[in-house]
Amino acid sequence: MSENIDTTKAVEIADGVYWIGFYDKGAGFHCNPYLIVDGDEAVLIEPGSVPHFPMVLSKLCRLIPFEKITKILVSHQDPDLCAGIPKFEELVYGCGGKLEIVTHSRASVLIAHYGIRSPFYQVDQNDWKLTLKSGRELTFIFSPYLHFPGAFMTYDSKTKILFSGDLFGAFSFDWNLYANEYYTEAMKAFHENYMPGNRILRAAMDKLDSFDISMIASQHGSIINRDVKKYIDTLRDLDCGDYVFTPGQD
Ligand SMILES: [Fe+2]
Ligand SMILES: [Fe+2]
Repeated sequence: MSENIDTTKAVEIADGVYWIGFYDKGAGFHCNPYLIVDGDEAVLIEPGSVPHFPMVLSKLCRLIPFEKITKILVSHQDPDLCAGIPKFEELVYGCGGKLEIVTHSRASVLIAHYGIRSPFYQVDQNDWKLTLKSGRELTFIFSPYLHFPGAFMTYDSKTKILFSGDLFGAFSFDWNLYANEYYTEAMKAFHENYMPGNRILRAAMDKLDSFDISMIASQHGSIINRDVKKYIDTLRDLDCGDYVFTPGQD
């Protein structure tokens, strides 16, 4: 890690939006949970796994009383972002709060297997948007098969941040909170392995052209806070689905 940012604390990446992950030394696959604080409510995004729970909790507990968290938003069903949901539910319900799990209907049938107790807010059944109490709007951008059939990205109208789920993530042992000059190659390697093909990836990138994006906050790798268009164009043109060509398996 080469930047001068104290990642032992939550990092405010935009007004009222916090990165609440941790520096996972030695891991090539960093996970990034986020928190949006909006007036007297908060949205927890991609909260994380069971082993990551204590570190995420240590950030979260200094930011907001647990009962203010009204939504947990997850871009798909993988354990690295969802397995800790029941633990976060205990905090919120234990403090007298109530939660909804915001996700796609295809993910909700799988997330139920983590043993959660909250109702789902299914983005595909709610016109692909969610309006918070303040009027702030979160818009959901369907990114099917990247890498799950019900995957989606979330655009925050207030900060213009795109919470991109696994898209724009990266494998890298030299992790930084914000993308540096090496990030493009790390991002490409991740997508070549994880995403199924250029036609599908291109379709999702084309949808982003109509959004004014200030920053891309992925669930893995680094936050892209400059040259956003360059990274979108890189993925638009990327060939992926590399495992199709695994020697002896093709
Ligand atoms: Fe995933
Ligand atoms: Fe992931």
